[in-house]
Amino acid sequence: MARGSIWLAAAVREGIRLVAGTSKERRVLAACVDPRTRFDQTAEWLVACFGSEKWFRSYVRCAESAWRATAGGGDLALDRRQKILAGLDVSRCRGVEIGPLHAPIVSKRDGNVLYVDYTDADTLRRKYANNPIVDVSQIVDVDAYWGAQSLGECLAQHAPVDYVIASHVLEHVPDLITWLKEIRAILSPRGRLKLALPDRRYTFDYLRRESQLVDVLNAYLLKARAPLPIAILDYILNTTAVDNVKAWTEGVSPQREAGRFESALSAARDAIKTGSYHDAHCWVFTCDSFKTLMADIADVGLLPFACDQYYDTELYQIEFFVSLRPCDDPKEAAASFRSFLGAGR
Ligand SMILES: C[S@@+](CC[C@H](N)C(=O)[O-])C[C@H]1O[C@@H](n2cnc3c(N)ncnc32)[C@H](O)[C@@H]1O
Repeated sequence: MARGSIWLAAAVREGIRLVAGTSKERRVLAACVDPRTRFDQTAEWLVACFGSEKWFRSYVRCAESAWRATAGGGDLALDRRQKILAGLDVSRCRGVEIGPLHAPIVSKRDGNVLYVDYTDADTLRRKYANNPIVDVSQIVDVDAYWGAQSLGECLAQHAPVDYVIASHVLEHVPDLITWLKEIRAILSPRGRLKLALPDRRYTFDYLRRESQLVDVLNAYLLKARAPLPIAILDYILNTTAVDNVKAWTEGVSPQREAGRFESALSAARDAIKTGSYHDAHCWVFTCDSFKTLMADIADVGLLPFACDQYYDTELYQIEFFVSLRPCDDPKEAAASFRSFLGAGR
């Protein structure tokens, strides 16, 4: 993937909204319209984005952020994919990508990969139809649905697999511990789970508190198969627009957005009454809080993984990357996460 598309993908992932546009930003966007990118091939889509000034500015600011980050000549797109796929040759093994949506890390051309989501592609296309940052024509077909059934049940004869990739998915899952256990159950002993995760400090989760052991234990004990009312309430009430470049440089003081109380209550009531799936960021991390949380889960004997690679959030970026390997020794698992502590800001 070329640089331009990853700049836009950064906006896609986090939907950062901005409050001011400048002529400089417009010049940056011009640079970001790179003839090598797949987004550039859908000029109509970009033009449609211009129709919404709010999102137009979002793309531009993300592009500017990425430009600065790669000013030394690095290729952010390659870096991101390389970090996720480090140590894997996807052309030679069999894997699963969870929640690829419109931006799979591994394409069907790259190797033997199955796409898993909580619902089918048509439902996802309808859900994102009016979302200006998701190109619905790029949403890939889903091979297996994970939700009511366990991951092992939905993959049946396809397991075990050599890797599982989940880019900006884990923060959405209702029961983090069971999610990890179910992935462990379909991985081969030398398999890897590769995660890309948003860092609260640079995204719309800015105002939310970081998830703690008690939060994940609560969801685990309740056997949540859809986001819990408390996650839905926190997500709707407390997400807010954040300029990620300013969050890295001069700092930001975002305000809670008013007028969300009714929709938050209505969604939470519906979840309680009907058990419906209301997608939300159920979990909130920084690159260091995630290490501590995983170590805490390992300490209580509920984490079937150790950490073998960690890429902290880089300057002007909004995400960090973690590679997990199967591990049944709680002490080893906890120590592996704690050994990476402190490297993140
Ligand atoms: C924010 S999108 C990430 C898209 C893409 N991987 C990326 O990095 O831009 C989250 C994806 O995860 C899927 N998802 C959310 N909760 C899920 C769950 N519990 N199980 C499987 N997929 C889920 C969503 O439907 C969506 O496709």
